[in-house]
Amino acid sequence: MKKVYCGHINNDNLNQTVIIEGWVKKIRNIGTIFFVDIADRYGLVQAVSNKIKEISKLTRESVVRIEGKVLLRKTPNLKLKTGKFEIKIEKLTILCLAKVPPFIIEDKTDALEELRLQYRYLDLRRNVLQQRIIFRSEFIHSLRNFLINNNFVDIETPVLAKPTPEGARDYLVPTRKSSNHFFALPQSPQIFKQLLMVSGFDRYFQVAKCFRDEDLRADRQPEFTQLDIEMSFINQKQIISIVEQMLKHCIKKTLNVDVKTPFPTLTYKESMDRYGVDKPDLRYDLCLQNLSLLIKETKNYVLKGFKIEDKIVSNKQFEQIDKNGVDIGIRSVYFLVKNKKIVDSNFKDCFFFKQIKDFDNFKEQLVDFFKITTGTIICCADTDLETVNKTLGACRVKANEIFAFAKPNDFKFLWIVDWPLFEYNKETKKYQAAHHPFTSPSKQCLDTFYKDKKNAKAQAYDIVLNGYEIGGGSIRITDPQLQTHMFEAIGLSTKEIKTKFGYLIKAFEYGVPPMGGLAIGLDRLIMILTQAQTIRDVIAFPKNSHGVDLTLEAPSAVNDEDLKELHLKITK
Ligand code: AMO
Repeated sequence: MKKVYCGHINNDNLNQTVIIEGWVKKIRNIGTIFFVDIADRYGLVQAVSNKIKEISKLTRESVVRIEGKVLLRKTPNLKLKTGKFEIKIEKLTILCLAKVPPFIIEDKTDALEELRLQYRYLDLRRNVLQQRIIFRSEFIHSLRNFLINNNFVDIETPVLAKPTPEGARDYLVPTRKSSNHFFALPQSPQIFKQLLMVSGFDRYFQVAKCFRDEDLRADRQPEFTQLDIEMSFINQKQIISIVEQMLKHCIKKTLNVDVKTPFPTLTYKESMDRYGVDKPDLRYDLCLQNLSLLIKETKNYVLKGFKIEDKIVSNKQFEQIDKNGVDIGIRSVYFLVKNKKIVDSNFKDCFFFKQIKDFDNFKEQLVDFFKITTGTIICCADTDLETVNKTLGACRVKANEIFAFAKPNDFKFLWIVDWPLFEYNKETKKYQAAHHPFTSPSKQCLDTFYKDKKNAKAQAYDIVLNGYEIGGGSIRITDPQLQTHMFEAIGLSTKEIKTKFGYLIKAFEYGVPPMGGLAIGLDRLIMILTQAQTIRDVIAFPKNSHGVDLTLEAPSAVNDEDLKELHLKITK
């Protein structure tokens, strides 16, 4: 007798007696005839009987083994892969009788996510989630194949490590062997991969777990997975090219979709000017235009805007579009256009527009500028260009959410290059590394970056997909003196440089090759490729939005004895 997966029953099995094993999904009876849907990872098939007694004992989600003959169904279910067949049960073994689950295990569920995360092992029984987890496995398999075929070496690096400066808080791990000393879980394998280049592994990769204690969002987890890459004797162009080939290969293999290479490239400045953000979604246009030429009397202001052609936004829609502006304290303004005339606007809410003397003329110019017959123009004015960009960048994203301009199965990659080397932290009032402090300044500002932090540029690049930053990397500093200088530039003292990064600078003194690399956030990439709503939908056991594993109820309390062994004491 042949064991066949539920979802694999086909013409070859017709009239054969087979064994299937799986979970009971549905039980129906018409008189004394029972119909039972049995599912496994590969799909679902109907089994039928009118004489097996145990069948009436079955509950949904019970685990069963069925022996039976494969027959043709009188009324086939064309929506189902196995819908032409049914299995006439000859023997039914109940392997586990299941309790009523806390929610119905079906693709479309209204169960709250918190409940589903609490019972994640049941949630993962849902086909939609299983397919995403399987896709993830296939995608990572194709990445590994590509990289191994291109001479990369897969190397694991430690999880018990030292703080790595990727801009988030560290998870610290105490150790019994040493009081007052802690390991840190790596925010990325950055330093290890640089050391591996010093060792001579010229092409490294790793599917690496990274840990960052930061505020969570739909595209962020405290524990996430990177595809981490580093190469020696390489330049930015070559890194970009190999990553493009890799993504093209894997997306073709797993989704059978052709992505066009090379991906477009924008400088950081171009991206901010056109889209107001550093990770623009290129699936839709809504480009920001500088309108400052239309206003003469308000010289210290920047006025920008974008048009939404053929869409007249309602008050409610505008409230949504403008929400981010309300949060950051700067409002945008709408102009509704019909037949090339502005028919309505909330410009009176904005002090800036009241200063324009010939407002009728301004309105005409605005319509002319955008060459718009019907639709909405969204504008924003402020003395600070960054604020205007930020506000309109968010409006643009919201407008797409409302009108769904972007197609979910369209994948638009791009590179953002020419990043600032530093960013100013308003809280600490200090400049910090915009990417990380191992990033090389661009050639033009090697001598000036220390003095002119505001304008210093980095040899760094980000890869963006559909409005998400999916990866980032840089050409590294390999000169010990330059590296020391860089640490000093972000405010580290000589002592701190020695204790935190002394070993790296030492390594650079023993023959270091030029190097560069990047890391791709795999969870985020797979979320986009599978059109999932959140990153949690592509991770088998994710943390909830408070960073808690609800299935394990972790983190959890530790008893005093264990703490004592670790030289720790809880004071409150
Ligand atoms: P970076 O910090 O830009 O670079 O991270 C690379 C990519 O990792 C993903 N990512 C995350 N995904 C989910 N949850 C998070 N909390 C999270 N944080 C980051 C993003 C991001 O683009 N060592 C450098 C790379 C290098 O220079 O080679 C690094 O880690 O998709």
